[in-house]
Amino acid sequence: MANLRIAQVGCGGMGLRHLYGEVELQRRADSFDLVAVCDLNQSAADYVADEAEKGLGRRPKVYTDFEDMLDSERDLDAVDIVTDVGLHDRLTNMAFEAGLNVAVEKPMGVTVRACLRMMEAAEKAGKVLLVEENHRRDPVNRLVKAILDSGALGAPRLMHVASFSGTRRLPHGTAWRHIKNRGGYLLDYGVHDADLFLYFLGEIESVFAETRLWEQTRQTSREHTAEPGSWGLGAYYAHRVKEDLERAATLECTSEDMSLGLLRFSSGAIGYYGKSIAAPGQLLDTDVIYCGEGSIQLPGSRSGRPTRITRLEGREPISEEDVLSLAPDFELDDLTASFFDGRRRIASYDYGGAEIDRKFIAMGLKDLADSIEHGRQPEMSGQVGLDAVALCYALLESGHAGQRTLFADVAGDRVNAYQREVNEHAGI
Ligand SMILES: NC(=O)c1ccc[n+]([C@@H]2O[C@H](COP(=O)([O-])OP(=O)(O)OC[C@H]3O[C@@H](n4cnc5c(N)ncnc54)[C@H](O)[C@@H]3O)[C@@H](O)[C@H]2O)c1
Repeated sequence: MANLRIAQVGCGGMGLRHLYGEVELQRRADSFDLVAVCDLNQSAADYVADEAEKGLGRRPKVYTDFEDMLDSERDLDAVDIVTDVGLHDRLTNMAFEAGLNVAVEKPMGVTVRACLRMMEAAEKAGKVLLVEENHRRDPVNRLVKAILDSGALGAPRLMHVASFSGTRRLPHGTAWRHIKNRGGYLLDYGVHDADLFLYFLGEIESVFAETRLWEQTRQTSREHTAEPGSWGLGAYYAHRVKEDLERAATLECTSEDMSLGLLRFSSGAIGYYGKSIAAPGQLLDTDVIYCGEGSIQLPGSRSGRPTRITRLEGREPISEEDVLSLAPDFELDDLTASFFDGRRRIASYDYGGAEIDRKFIAMGLKDLADSIEHGRQPEMSGQVGLDAVALCYALLESGHAGQRTLFADVAGDRVNAYQREVNEHAGI
């Protein structure tokens, strides 16, 4: 099959990472020709186009207006949307109206309603919608899922996810991550955790949460704020052009920066979810799944470290070999294995942060290409993307209302008081 023609919109930090994902994919498979890139800021788009020329051997055309790009590039097959989340639904729906397939970065949409509209637009256009959530693609997370499914450790009882850090700076210098109408921290960062809760433990019945906004103003210093476990992400943002509101010394923040939630899964298992970027001092990053016969400590997506499994009454974690033996049928799927030298049973890996990042982005793009070619749903479908966004908002709706919230009510857009102003701002 001839290469599909793709264009990318959004050439900020993640937009540059996507370009390197395209390069990684081209190195191993023919899938896409990147024919155009678009950003409101010409210099950001030019930078990504220059990097594309170096990595792909040809320079994509540069646009500063998405509509103009859609009008001019009449034979596109797909667009890759990598703008901040506030625009995901509008750009996605325009792409579907133009008859294109869409890959869109996580979080899928700025509210549950935005996600539902995107799914309707995909359905109407009869095109593929893929959400670029990449943490579950990690082979170690795949192995954990296989161990849970095998029942070798008994039934899951509690998934405990705690991630606390504190800073007054803006992550990556980006203001939109602290503005409620443009997504906000608990959606933008929390959606990865939400997807893993659903991936590992399945359907959720209800949540109860306390949520807060502590840091009402933040410093807009350009300096990159290192996240625990980060690997020089700041370098990807060096070419990014500041928005006007990032030029003032401080930013008025409107989105919550702390959440403590309890989740009730349909299986009866419980989830504990603590997340904050407004907890200064002691860093805490601990993700553990407790099952009837032992615990699984998650090493952190993209880290390559093995999961630590400790059995009931065991004092030390078991060996990597014994971890693998808990899931005798575990095999990476073809797509994932192809990025790990064809190896099917791995419990850890040793790639640098930049390399593993390129691989995960390339996997998402390859899933898009394969889904278009075979007319099937990608693994990260609209429904999967919607559920992760709905879990983030179930926590925020619960915190807002001060009461337990049913997941299905949020996912069905029947409980949406917290999201009302975001929907109004988006005009949906
Ligand atoms: N999967 C991951 O690990 C991961 C990591 C970081 C970011 N992301 C996601 O990637 C997306 C982008 O994040 P980022 O950190 O790159 O943000 P960013 O602010 O660095 O980049 C966004 C870019 O979009 C451009 N843009 C905004 N409106 C536009 C429009 N109408 N037309 C064209 N361009 C427009 C901006 O000028 C900017 O360059 C977000 O959805 C974010 O959640 C995912």
